[in-house]
Amino acid sequence: MTTPQQSAGVFELGSGHEQVVFCHDEPTGLKAIIAIHSTALGPGLGGTRFYPYANEQDALEDVLNLSKGMSYKAALAGLDLGGGKAVIIGDPAKIKTEALLRAYGRFVQSLHGRYYTACDVGTFPEDMDNIARECSYVTGRTVAHGGAGDSSVLTAFGVFQGMRAAAEVTWGAPTLHGRTVGVAGVGKVGHHLVTHLVDDGADVVVTDVDPAAVARVQADHPQVRAVADTTELVRSELDVYAPCALGGALDDEVVQVLSAKIVCGAANNQLAHEGIEKQLQDRGILYAPDYMVNAGGLIQVADELEGFSFDRAKHRAAKIYDTTAQVFALASEEGVPPAVAADRLAERRMKEVGRLRGIWLKG
Ligand SMILES: NC(=O)c1ccc[n+]([C@@H]2O[C@H](COP(=O)([O-])OP(=O)(O)OC[C@H]3O[C@@H](n4cnc5c(N)ncnc54)[C@H](O)[C@@H]3O)[C@@H](O)[C@H]2O)c1
Repeated sequence: MTTPQQSAGVFELGSGHEQVVFCHDEPTGLKAIIAIHSTALGPGLGGTRFYPYANEQDALEDVLNLSKGMSYKAALAGLDLGGGKAVIIGDPAKIKTEALLRAYGRFVQSLHGRYYTACDVGTFPEDMDNIARECSYVTGRTVAHGGAGDSSVLTAFGVFQGMRAAAEVTWGAPTLHGRTVGVAGVGKVGHHLVTHLVDDGADVVVTDVDPAAVARVQADHPQVRAVADTTELVRSELDVYAPCALGGALDDEVVQVLSAKIVCGAANNQLAHEGIEKQLQDRGILYAPDYMVNAGGLIQVADELEGFSFDRAKHRAAKIYDTTAQVFALASEEGVPPAVAADRLAERRMKEVGRLRGIWLKG
């Protein structure tokens, strides 16, 4: 017998999603779920995560959460895009083949542009090129195919802009010069972020579970210090903490021990549970909402829809500075944590601009 919890279906789990599509191609082993949360501002755009989920329920919950997050990210980034995301269930190292990716591409094509895909965990620009052999709605392609290349470049640039805006509010100047910044996770985004910080004159301390990632950063920037792990990093004397590894970086324990005045990093879903944003505020820590400051990657791949221009995308990503300042101002005006203010701004844009579709135009 199933408990009510176990029997929760798509409609109960989804939070206002428009469309959820299950795709199955038995011969290739493709099992995918595409979730479109909102198309109020345009087609849903979001990556395809290829991951060995323990079960279908986990995959479904992940794709519903992620697609909703994309609606908010695109709205706050000022893009004419909605929120969508997809997951392919399985271990990419074992089941990813040209045929499986192309089968997936045909399902994405069947949505006629309501959903555009891109890279995520377990998928790479070369995979997007394969998907694009069957489908017109693909971003994150290789440079050779007009793609934007590595999206971590503008993700890190955007995070740095958000951090500068937070520094302005906290210390009165938009710079990290002379500040101690702790970066947890120096993979693709973290490494680029360290470069911006070092160039700005910050004192940088890093950690990563992969010693090779730390070695690469220190080879480029010998002055960067390293500590053993994230536990040690969050307990050290910091002005800014930048989570750039996994989600859930900010839990009750971390918030209590942090000496940093600002948290601003690239990782998605940093708040471990609801209420952490308030705890941060109560401790006088300024939190720059993750989906606001890490939108540079989305801005970068979305630019492919206009024929990719790095300069244009960088110009758009630079505006993350203004958006961050606007969110902090709204938060203080309305007496709410910045995470709440960011949600309100995103929802306002989805409502106000989304409503315009109601003005009928001959198609
Ligand atoms: N790449 C992008 O454009 C982009 C865009 C938006 C958000 N993000 C988010 O930013 C984060 C980093 O993305 P990335 O592309 O740099 O990924 P990545 O895999 O290149 O880097 C992540 C790094 O974190 C390290 N790491 C993992 N667990 C750790 C732990 N417990 N403690 C310390 N280090 C740990 C890994 O060894 C790796 O070096 C992810 O949460 C990702 O979802 C990335």
